[in-house]
Amino acid sequence: MKCTRCKAKAEVHLRAHNAGFCRPCYLGYFQRHVERAVDREKMFSKDDHILVAVSGGKDSLALWDVLVGLGYRTTGLYLGLGIGGYSDRSRETVEAFARNRELPLVVRTLADEGPGLAVPDVAASTRRVPCAACGAMKRHFFDAAAHEGSFDVLATGHNLDDEAARLLGNVLRWQRDHLARQRPVLQPSHPKFVRKVKPLYLLSEYETAVYAFMRGIEYVVEECPNAEGATQLVYKDALNRLEAASPGTKQAFVKEFLRNAQSLFADDAARGVPGECQQCGMPAYGAICSFCALVREVETKRARRAAAAAEHAGA
Ligand code: AMP
Ligand code: FES
Ligand code: ZN
Repeated sequence: MKCTRCKAKAEVHLRAHNAGFCRPCYLGYFQRHVERAVDREKMFSKDDHILVAVSGGKDSLALWDVLVGLGYRTTGLYLGLGIGGYSDRSRETVEAFARNRELPLVVRTLADEGPGLAVPDVAASTRRVPCAACGAMKRHFFDAAAHEGSFDVLATGHNLDDEAARLLGNVLRWQRDHLARQRPVLQPSHPKFVRKVKPLYLLSEYETAVYAFMRGIEYVVEECPNAEGATQLVYKDALNRLEAASPGTKQAFVKEFLRNAQSLFADDAARGVPGECQQCGMPAYGAICSFCALVREVETKRARRAAAAAEHAGA
């Protein structure tokens, strides 16, 4: 196959777009795609300071790389979740990426926060599945880091496969409130929140993997060992089968939802303006925010367990 742009030998074939690209033209295509999404959805401008949440995986590192290439002002944010060797390797990968390109990076380690908030410990103390604990803490620390560093925008590496799988899950259960918030740009509902954006929302996992490979980006290939994945991976697998039978299905699913249906759910997101958490000062709908409620639960349950253990030892 020949490159759709320059007729050289193509290195990648994108069935969904019925196009092929040689390496330089593919890199140009990817960069232009991100630039257009950023402009079309008014995600941010060259004046904004963007906090890019980087996990060490291909999507978020490809995102950081492309934003730097486009001349945006960025800082990386890595959260050390405390998930054993997986977190250690992810951190090393992100640190090497930032060091080699002399990019600013903020690292926060959950085990060192509050009473010790490594994901496996929080999950065990509260008997939550790790991913539920992890999701709540990521949300909080993304918001807190963006606020503390006075950033204008928080960008994540969610790609088309992530968005399509999430949409499928939300539609299968008609989760109106989740559908109301499934957008590539979320405007802040409080001055202490920043805008949240997903510039890769229409680029597939395959496309970001090819970009990362062609740019020589070293990334962590292994996925988080926790089971979150389980349902999400089943949805991704189902969507991949549909995509194989009918290329372009994932794009159409997400794009047409956003174009034709998303606004029908938008009212469900109108929870009003949040107040501020009495404990940490971040936005909250109740007296304390859901993160502080989680921390209290961890502390209470740990104390109860320690007391029971002491009693047992004394008996
Ligand atoms: P995931 O929820 O693991 O699919 O990740 C979605 C996006 O969240 C990634 O593309 C990153 O932008 C961000 N992210 C996930 N894990 C981390 C982490 N440990 N530190 C910083 N950002 C992360
Ligand atoms: Fe959060 Fe796996 S990344 S539990
Ligand atoms: Zn709080």
